[in-house]
Amino acid sequence: ASLEIYYTFIVCLFCFSQTTLAVDNRKFPAGFKFGVATASYQIEGGWDEDGKGENIWDHLTHVSPDLINHQSNGDISCDSYHKYKTDVALLKELGVDFYRFSLSWSRILPTGYIDGGINEPGVAYYENILDLLEENGIEPMITLYHWDLPQPLHENVGGWLNETTVDIFANYARLAFDLFGDRVKYWVTFNEPLSICQQGYETGGKAPAISDNPGVDLYICGHMVLKSHAAAYHIYDKEYKPKQKGKISIVINTNWAEPGSDDAKDVEAAERTLQFRFGWFANPIVHGNYPQVMIDRIGNRSVQEGFTQSRLPQFTDEEVESIKGTYDYIGLNHYSTSLIKWREDIEIGEPSSSKDMSVQESIDFSWETSASYWLFVVPWGMRKISKWVKDTYNNPEIIITENGYSDAGGILDDDRRINYIREYLSSLLEAIYDDEVNVTGYTAWSLMDNFEWFRGYAEKFGLYSVNFTDPERPRTPKASVDYYKSILTTRCL
Ligand code: NOJ
Repeated sequence: ASLEIYYTFIVCLFCFSQTTLAVDNRKFPAGFKFGVATASYQIEGGWDEDGKGENIWDHLTHVSPDLINHQSNGDISCDSYHKYKTDVALLKELGVDFYRFSLSWSRILPTGYIDGGINEPGVAYYENILDLLEENGIEPMITLYHWDLPQPLHENVGGWLNETTVDIFANYARLAFDLFGDRVKYWVTFNEPLSICQQGYETGGKAPAISDNPGVDLYICGHMVLKSHAAAYHIYDKEYKPKQKGKISIVINTNWAEPGSDDAKDVEAAERTLQFRFGWFANPIVHGNYPQVMIDRIGNRSVQEGFTQSRLPQFTDEEVESIKGTYDYIGLNHYSTSLIKWREDIEIGEPSSSKDMSVQESIDFSWETSASYWLFVVPWGMRKISKWVKDTYNNPEIIITENGYSDAGGILDDDRRINYIREYLSSLLEAIYDDEVNVTGYTAWSLMDNFEWFRGYAEKFGLYSVNFTDPERPRTPKASVDYYKSILTTRCL
């Protein structure tokens, strides 16, 4: 019996020391920044006000309303075009260090082209926001492209399928740096190129909802987006950074890909998934070219399918050199995890990007669900993906540019969201302390409920709820506001 007591004592001592250690590790490192994010089309409304031009989301929601849940659109949405002062007050109330938001390209350049003229009220709108943020000590992080391509660029040249869009985007980027760069220290060129290209130009799940050339168009899109990103990076790096001293990069999204078993083929399939999703964009900006596994697999299949060249476009040596190193940090949008198993190569037929990967994706049915069919609560994925990015891309500075939880009702007592944020942040702390990942910031998606693309207003990610049936669009704090506020004040979980 005394041995048993002795044993229990030792175990307790061990547990206690672990808890004490864990408590120390609940504090975020000095200088770690917290923010919230939104995007222009999702919150602004004012879709044709004061000279704003039409973009692909205005167009799609008006021309094909049936594609959107309840035929909703972003015509008014949260009405942030008029209510930005309220929004900054919410940011202040939350106590965030920074606010990540995007510019509506067609609000600034109604035709998309610089020669089409600058829309002064559009510029003034963003200047007003920047002024207010500055007055309130909140740092802006600006995304140049969060999916709302000016419609004329789509109609005239096919948007991201055309090389000429690279220069057109570069001109827009230069204008943005010129207008706002003196007050902006964090720039994002593109939000989620994977979503832009795969959903916009293959599955049809996002505007412009093109799905004519599966397995082909999405890779052309990716190519143009990467070149546009590099062009904007260099403009900033050479012409603005020396004076403005900001940082610029791209935001890439992925689930963590957990091998479905210990079988080497499943482990390899999970790694391949990360390469096809995240590496597709991260590998070029870090190492200069697409991941070898993409080059090989898409190349081989293309030949078998009878294409004269790979469906994955090739960078010239010069382009490789110019794309390599175009990041000052890596922006990571991470929400969920998938289980990945190897899948026998599907026989040659209609090409598709999903066949190129040869994986089978599933979930664990014990994972907590959300209102979004793709979002399962798997906090440990946060640590794993952060560590993977560290190991795969030479230990870059990482900013979590989005992470969040959706429910259907926008309930104020949102304990599931609180739990999600707590658990994901806790996992992030493990990445920071145990795996020494250089994560310098975290961004909650989203400041408030907003237009969730094809899901309309059915999936709510906000810390603040918005009443979309009231013309005043009043915002009400959910319980998660208090929770996030407490983290921001204590810098602790
Ligand atoms: C990623 C996108 O950047 C954002 O626009 C979207 O609302 C959230 N994820 C949630 O789906």
